Amino acid sequence: MSEINLGLGNNDIVTRKEAESDFIAFWEKQAKNLSWFSTWKKPLDWNPPFAKWFVGGTINASYNTLDIHQNKANKPAILWEGENGESKILTYKDMWTQVQKFANVLKSLGVQKGDRITIYLPMIPELPISMLACARIGAIHTVIFSGFSAAAIKDRICDSKSKIVITADGGYRRGNIIKLKEVIDEATKDFDFVQNVIVIERTKNKIILSSKDMLWNELMNDISDTCIAEKLDSTHPLYILYTSGTTGKPKGVLHGTGGYLTHLYSTFKWAFDIKDSDIFFCTADIGWVTGHSYMVYGPLLHGATEVMYEGAPDFPDASRMWEIIQKYKVTIFYTTPTALRMFMKFGDELPNSFDLSTLRLLGSVGEPINPEVWKWYFKIIGKEKCPIIDTWWQTETGGMMISALPGLETIPLKPGSGTRSIPGLDISVVDEVGNDIPPNTKGYLVIKNPWPGMLLTLWGDDAKYRDVYWSKYKNCYYPGDYALRDIDGYFWLLGRADDVLKVSGHRIGTAELESCIVSHHNVAESAVCGIPDELKGEVIIAFVVLKQNVTKDTLILEKELLIKIRNDIGAIATPKQIYFVAKLPKTRSGKIMRRLLKSIANNETIGDISTLEDGAAVSEIQSVFEELQKSIQKKSD
Ligand code: PRX
Repeated sequence: MSEINLGLGNNDIVTRKEAESDFIAFWEKQAKNLSWFSTWKKPLDWNPPFAKWFVGGTINASYNTLDIHQNKANKPAILWEGENGESKILTYKDMWTQVQKFANVLKSLGVQKGDRITIYLPMIPELPISMLACARIGAIHTVIFSGFSAAAIKDRICDSKSKIVITADGGYRRGNIIKLKEVIDEATKDFDFVQNVIVIERTKNKIILSSKDMLWNELMNDISDTCIAEKLDSTHPLYILYTSGTTGKPKGVLHGTGGYLTHLYSTFKWAFDIKDSDIFFCTADIGWVTGHSYMVYGPLLHGATEVMYEGAPDFPDASRMWEIIQKYKVTIFYTTPTALRMFMKFGDELPNSFDLSTLRLLGSVGEPINPEVWKWYFKIIGKEKCPIIDTWWQTETGGMMISALPGLETIPLKPGSGTRSIPGLDISVVDEVGNDIPPNTKGYLVIKNPWPGMLLTLWGDDAKYRDVYWSKYKNCYYPGDYALRDIDGYFWLLGRADDVLKVSGHRIGTAELESCIVSHHNVAESAVCGIPDELKGEVIIAFVVLKQNVTKDTLILEKELLIKIRNDIGAIATPKQIYFVAKLPKTRSGKIMRRLLKSIANNETIGDISTLEDGAAVSEIQSVFEELQKSIQKKSD
């Protein structure tokens, strides 16, 4: 692999050395970059697997992102670009005023510290305003991606018991209006605990208002713009973000305040080498963790100016991102491999016809970036002068864990590698029993020390938290990813080791999807798996066993299942192909052989099955495999 030596920042070896000798003191030093109301008594209370950072300290996320920047009140915080070409600039003063007003609105509706607030909004400024208003008064926000269906939202609202839901009359997506309010009406109709639904009129399409519903503009009209930020404990929960895992229901990842903000302040500075003059553009939706950490909290902690784009990246055509970079003179661009693969498909001419010369740093997140895409990004978008940081992290980690850090040190980059871990972390690649493995060997990624951005727990379920992340290896966090480390100590992320799929960078749990399919009255069993896809990284294939005596046409059934998946989860979970089969390949202990399913879906030969998990008889597997192939054959006949 060729190496590209393009680090930008100062070689700060001291920082890594300090971090290695005493990671707690190191993070303590980083925490001092934030504004605390009172300092902590203890930097870390580690009662595995529960970490409390900066115990006894009091802090406020809204204060640290807004109040402290009022010496440059007229600096733009958000350069907002609507899908239909509108634009808006919100300065740090504007944000501060709006957030205080909305915090007062929430208070006037009886919201108190610790109450949960669900936010289901498109990418409009009211989304970060709502989040920061919650943070200001100590309410816990729980943002739900605006592509999720009513049933998916219902589960999440029921789990968090949100008192207030914030939504919009609609959101623009590829020129269409998504009727968000209707989805919320459906999702909340059975919940008396939802006291009010606050509606932002984004599209002015017709909506029905019930007695619970209140309009954002009316609430904001006549309310004080002063709301003092609450002094909150460092460990006070900032937000819940639901994410898919290996279990049937989405998990509510709970993040705290002081540790999380310390992690974000540090990684945003080290990874993006942020300067006061930068224009930062992250293409993530705030409904996912990247948007929380590197659109809302990270940039605003630094008083940075950022672009926020409302719509689809390819609307009205595939040049939209390049046009935005040119228009706003973006200097730092952070996006996903899926988006890059899509842009790459449209050729070099589109990006080459825009002025991208302001760019100085590029980032990637969410899935492995293949070297070919990395090189295209480097050459065509970065014009061979911008370093690319490939940042590995998760909803649970809160912030980046592995990334090149141009703002901290100069190291050679290798296309496709995330390079090294963030200082102050202890990350390794281990074998099945937890032993470190030699370089260039594939194994499991583990994190051996607690880190400040780590989740506090899963909302309302400490046992599941312990079980999902801390039971595979003793006192080690297990993220569920394969990785290897090369001889230079660089990490190469090799995809998920568990039953989590990554479709267009979005996390989808196989169990969640399977339980949705099985809840169709004609279905007996189902197994889903991911197969590689040039554009989306991975696409979903579903195998379905019907109940006995079901005579319905499979084409009709397929349609019904697709509608069901869209309604129960959302369009992102739609399988590319559904196979109706007589039987699923399972081991004797009942475990579905996903590798076999993948081979079948990929039309591959069965390959070496002697190493298949759980010691199922080879002949048994062979016959199930053949049976499965036959039944698929029948369908295509
Ligand atoms: O499998 C890894 C993959 O995304 C998972 C986390 O997904 P989520 O919680 O949705 O967060 C995505 C945004 C941080 C990881 O377990 N992943 C994330 N970043 C990378 C990655 N895989 C390879 N390279 C990355 N840079």
